[in-house]
Amino acid sequence: MELVIASNNKNKIKEITQILGNFFEKLYSLQDLGINIDVAETGKTFYENALIKARTISELTQKAVIADDSGLEVYALNFEPGIYSARYASVNGEANSSDEKNNELLLKNMEKNSNRKARFVSSVVLYYPSGRIIATNGITEGEILYEKKGANGFGYDPLFYSYELNKSFGESTAKEKNLVSHRAKALAQLKDILSLEKNM
Ligand code: IMP
Repeated sequence: MELVIASNNKNKIKEITQILGNFFEKLYSLQDLGINIDVAETGKTFYENALIKARTISELTQKAVIADDSGLEVYALNFEPGIYSARYASVNGEANSSDEKNNELLLKNMEKNSNRKARFVSSVVLYYPSGRIIATNGITEGEILYEKKGANGFGYDPLFYSYELNKSFGESTAKEKNLVSHRAKALAQLKDILSLEKNM
């Protein structure tokens, strides 16, 4: 079986290839297949958005597709920005806003909050052309810092203090982050399911 990775993010493609490469005959990125569509994330949950992405690309390619959707949930902000993480600070309905602006808005909205608890959440969906779905979730817990620390990673990494690494994701190497991240946990679960099925 061949697998399409529904992403254009080089780091994600590398991580998924490393973890799931052995289970599929061949892996493709969207770019490999010349697919350049922006699937509208119209779902209300990370799972729905990952499913919409995976199903759309699978119907287009007739191959198995893996897609993920992830984001930051801040307890004191009613779990915002959540599915709107990428476009938290966007104005006029833009699809995305810059990491810089998103981080600034998060700090502003947290100005008067002493409850800094937050978590990154990732939903991963593997969609087969038959319509079969395998879905997993990963969570990593931490706190929102009062100022950025470190410049590694992307998105909210410099503002996220990880309880598992005892430092911010911005101060962590990719290797360290991949040991504990929400996405790594969801992918590890998927790997376990595929391993079980292979041995059945
Ligand atoms: P995506 O679904 O992985 O593309 O993530 C959507 C948005 O959530 C990103 O644009 C980031 O703002 C945020 N996000 C998701 N995962 C991470 C992470 O590991 N570190 C920092 N920000 C993240």
